[in-house]
Amino acid sequence: MLLGIPTETKERECRVALTPDVCAQLIKSGFRVAVQSGAGIKSYYSDDQYTAVGAELLPEADSLYQRSDVVLKVNAPSPAEISRMRQGAILISFMWAGTNPDLIAACVKQGISAFSMDAIPRISRAQKMDALSSQANLAGYKSVIMGANALGKIFPLLMTAAGTIKPSKVVIFGAGVAGLQAIATAKRLGAVVEVTDIRPETKEQVESLGGKFIQVKGDDSIRIEGGYVKGVSEDFLKRQQELVSKHVAEADLVITTALIPGKKAPVLVTEDMVRSMRFGSVIVDMAVEQGGNCVLSELNQTVVKHGVTIIGESNIPSLLPLNASDLYAKNIQTFLLHLATNEGFKWELEEEITKGALIVHQGKDLFTR
Ligand code: NAI
Repeated sequence: MLLGIPTETKERECRVALTPDVCAQLIKSGFRVAVQSGAGIKSYYSDDQYTAVGAELLPEADSLYQRSDVVLKVNAPSPAEISRMRQGAILISFMWAGTNPDLIAACVKQGISAFSMDAIPRISRAQKMDALSSQANLAGYKSVIMGANALGKIFPLLMTAAGTIKPSKVVIFGAGVAGLQAIATAKRLGAVVEVTDIRPETKEQVESLGGKFIQVKGDDSIRIEGGYVKGVSEDFLKRQQELVSKHVAEADLVITTALIPGKKAPVLVTEDMVRSMRFGSVIVDMAVEQGGNCVLSELNQTVVKHGVTIIGESNIPSLLPLNASDLYAKNIQTFLLHLATNEGFKWELEEEITKGALIVHQGKDLFTR
């Protein structure tokens, strides 16, 4: 089987789906690999590194899409790119199928099969394939670094002859994968860290990392399924806002990571809360692509509102392309070897991981039906 790695075309994307290391291992497992020239450059992997491990280099995307049995990508290809794939070929990438009906339609029309990396079930058996976690983990780290860089002060307590500097205070909304890594990073840099989340089990996780948990009393409106928040009432959000407001007013850096899968991100930081913050403080809104946790954040912009710098970078993993591509490539490799051998796909349609991730099977929409 020929695996094809096109260059990512999405704006602000620096990652690549397969690294030379992982290419080498897949070639050893009996696959052939074709890489579009320059596909790894923004992740600091040169064409020479790919050819050195036995990958074929193709100058342009068209022939790569036409020839590949399996196309491996970070972001989903455009419908035009999909229209170049052969009938029966297979696509593996992030798909976000729930908000991407045109993509599903293009896969159906072309008669291909598509596996979505974001639909792989979050079960322990699938942890090595879990690209949502691998990328969110890095994003959580980088969000703190970006916030610290935009702040006019340091994180740790510092006692000097010229006076004592008090530690910075970081408030984090959401203690999922990104939030937990943000807590660990901010603590390592010496900040005082306070955290709020809806899921009660996060209290212990936050405290084990040295964070202080801001507990909002839960109510019956909170629906949690499979570890995810599925819904929460306006009343709860109001009470959460009241309690968290005074912590935000004293924060130097606020990082928001709160998401509700398949829905718009909850608004947790209002304009009044931004106004209450100190001049020069910083907000990093990691939920900006899903509408934002802060009302004033702007997609892919850094803006200053009421004296507060608000960072709305949508693709934070791409700012660490080396690590992000390394981990993503490992996720893809493990997933591919779960689904296939070099002789073909197993198509175990009732197996949990295959069933969860398979969005379109040989032109048949399995997602919307
Ligand atoms: P996410 O990115 O969907 O959401 C981030 C966080 O925001 C979550 O912790 C959520 O509870 C929180 N949140 C939502 N609304 C909020 C609000 N109004 N205020 C404060 N916080 C709010 O979550 P992520 O990081 O993708 O993880 C989701 C779940 O998946 C977790 O339970 C995690 O333990 C689980 N998981 C399981 C894995 C496995 O078993 N293989 C691997 C990774 C995650």
